[in-house]
Amino acid sequence: MGGLGIRVATSADCRALAEMRYRFRAEVGSPTEPRSRFVRRCTSWMKKRFRVGSSAWRCWVVDDGDQLLGHVCVQLFEKMPNPVNEREVHAYLTNFYVVPEMRSRGLGRTLLKKALSWCRAQGTDAVILWATPESKSLYRRCGLLQSNDILEFRGGTLRGRN
Ligand SMILES: CC(C)(COP(=O)(O)OP(=O)(O)OC[C@H]1O[C@@H](n2cnc3c(N)ncnc32)[C@H](O)[C@@H]1OP(=O)(O)O)[C@@H](O)C(=O)NCCC(=O)NCCS
Repeated sequence: MGGLGIRVATSADCRALAEMRYRFRAEVGSPTEPRSRFVRRCTSWMKKRFRVGSSAWRCWVVDDGDQLLGHVCVQLFEKMPNPVNEREVHAYLTNFYVVPEMRSRGLGRTLLKKALSWCRAQGTDAVILWATPESKSLYRRCGLLQSNDILEFRGGTLRGRN
């Protein structure tokens, strides 16, 4: 990773992160929200969540000193108190992305390892995520296992956003 660094995102990164979020999601689907409105909304959302130390969210970015090249985010969420020897927090890993021109050089793996080691340090029980078919082999190589136990209930389609 010569010249590149991984660090925790700050408020100053949120606009660039929101732009990359749009780029990421537009790679896998057709946006129904105008780009400028989404970037505004997402920047504001991220600024509230990615304040270091003030929320359950944490985001790491790959930075080349000039621009961001990738990111991964984690949200910790509580479990119920438990009287047996079991950890009481889970983590949701999301928004894992490296810009296409920098893929397959190990940046994704480095980001993922960073996030997972932070989760471990927070005492998380399980780290969960929704994988795409293409990303599964990377997750497996980093120690994530497919669960037979998770069930999901999906909401309907979002019809419009005012
Ligand atoms: C997933 C992603 C962040 C990996 O970043 P990266 O820097 O290329 O990762 P690495 O170089 O460390 O590892 C490469 C591995 O990524 C996976 N990968 C390759 N292309 C991919 C793609 N288009 N989408 C997802 N994963 C991919 C493969 O497991 C690959 O390993 P392989 O070459 O042995 O098959 C990057 O491919 C990406 O941004 N993809 C689009 C967004 C996405 O799918 N995010 C994950 C959603 S669950």
